[in-house]
Amino acid sequence: MSIRFLSITLLLLSVHLFSQSSANKRLIPKNIPPCCTKVSTANISIDVTGDMYRQQSARYHCVEAIIFRTRNGLACVDPKAEWVQELTAKMTKTDKI
Ligand SMILES: *[C@@H]1O[C@H](CO)[C@@H](O)[C@H](O)[C@H]1NC(C)=O
Repeated sequence: MSIRFLSITLLLLSVHLFSQSSANKRLIPKNIPPCCTKVSTANISIDVTGDMYRQQSARYHCVEAIIFRTRNGLACVDPKAEWVQELTAKMTKTDKI
């Protein structure tokens, strides 16, 4: 009884997740990698790791952004922020982030 309930729950959950992800995909044109849709201006330079950054231009739902690696994953930040300009001046631009 409880196993049956659990499997029905899981089935409903996976159907729900599937329909959600396909709904998201419809909004995003094909062959566009995930991108920053918003940026932060907060100075997180202390969390930035490595010496590479990526510049993203505004396109479709993506906004102009600098992408840094941090210990918590990728961060989308405002290219106009002063701390971002100071940091990128010392770093190497790459497309591999
Ligand atoms: C950003 O934070 C770093 C590290 O705390 C600091 O050295 C730097 O001066 C800050 N930059 C600005 C523009 O506030």
